[in-house]
Amino acid sequence: MQILGIDIGGSGVKGAPVDSDSGELAAERFRIETPQPATPEAVAETVGEVAKHFSWSGPVGVTYPGVVIRGTVHTAANMDHSWIGVDAAALFGKVLDTGGSGAPRVLNDADAAGVAEMAHGAGRGRDGVVLMLTFGTGIGSALFLDGKLVPNTELGHLELHGKDAELRASARIRAEKELSWDKWAERVQEYLDLVEKLLSPELILVGGGVAKHADKFVPLLKLRAEIVGAKLMNEAGIVGAAMAAAPGTASQ
Ligand code: BGC
Repeated sequence: MQILGIDIGGSGVKGAPVDSDSGELAAERFRIETPQPATPEAVAETVGEVAKHFSWSGPVGVTYPGVVIRGTVHTAANMDHSWIGVDAAALFGKVLDTGGSGAPRVLNDADAAGVAEMAHGAGRGRDGVVLMLTFGTGIGSALFLDGKLVPNTELGHLELHGKDAELRASARIRAEKELSWDKWAERVQEYLDLVEKLLSPELILVGGGVAKHADKFVPLLKLRAEIVGAKLMNEAGIVGAAMAAAPGTASQ
């Protein structure tokens, strides 16, 4: 069956219908710039436009870059603070036609990317403790035990040198500080040492915008865990959002 997946990011709102069995996009993805300020109402309108582009009626899954528990947003590190406390599932429900399938499913962006990567990408068939980390504007995390997600882990906000780890080691910081891949990899190494000390994952998947450059920094990282670049690149959020909205998928 096809499900519409929509991925809300700091710079763009992207969506596409996804074949929920194969995890493949059933149509070319459509992207609209994230409105600024990225208030709930403005972003919801954009989400509605993405769905309209596909004349969509049917189940919809939407990602949000913060903690989401049962459809309600609880944090907004890189979003407008007015998101905190918003019932995003109800808000998006007003602009989406879910074809009678109930409220859209809303989940954390890194969790969605991880769900997709575990099913159709570099985590496929892997059990034990697996951690997906997305390096972008922030650092997102998705933790799996035997393939099952522990949602909202928020490991980008671990403290490193007295501040939020994502303020030292995200891809945005690499760009802003014009760090070479080697210099940035040193920061990522420190961060991963901390993560490994706390969680001892067997496998770490590196996703987000930098995944396409994984060969430039992943070989520099020395960990006990196996560490590999994600495979689904910038489609992971869309695919994971759609998978989470598949009928019968347990809610958080
Ligand atoms: C947010 C996470 C999100 C990550 C990546 C962090 O700032 O707190 O929820 O997954 O950025 O977007």
